[in-house]
Amino acid sequence: MDKSKIFNNLIKKVKEIVDDSSDRNEKLMRICMLLKREVPYYDWVGFYITDESKNELLLGPFSGEPTEHVRIPFGKGICGQAAEKRHTIVVQDVSKEKNYLSCSPAVKSEIVVPIFKNEKIVGELDIDSHSYAPFTREDRQFLEKICNIVAKIF
Ligand code: SME
Repeated sequence: MDKSKIFNNLIKKVKEIVDDSSDRNEKLMRICMLLKREVPYYDWVGFYITDESKNELLLGPFSGEPTEHVRIPFGKGICGQAAEKRHTIVVQDVSKEKNYLSCSPAVKSEIVVPIFKNEKIVGELDIDSHSYAPFTREDRQFLEKICNIVAKIF
């Protein structure tokens, strides 16, 4: 699988979605569906939106199985840790992570990338995989790029 070819193509498509005339939620939803469809090991793709008044993350558009984790306080789970530490977190085997909020036993690994706007965390992109250790440096760089592009609509 040629990740760089797939990722370069997806960056172009995400830019097109961000620049079109639909509203933010619809754009985010289409990005979730696109990433889930085009990357075989992305099994759940979703955005969390920051609720600044409460230091919590609220579930936004997602593609995949429904999750009970619709509100996550900063510091809790992998999503909450990424918001608190202000950087991407990659967990290649979630069974080894103590501070983890499980959505489904099928999930084996996870990557969470914060979305920054004017140095504030306005949201996150969260991806679960049913494979162990599928995320490489390429995934991380790709998803950080996607979050930079998406920051424009926050
Ligand atoms: N596993 C996440 C919770 C969100 S779900 O993956 C959709 C966490 O530990 O923060």
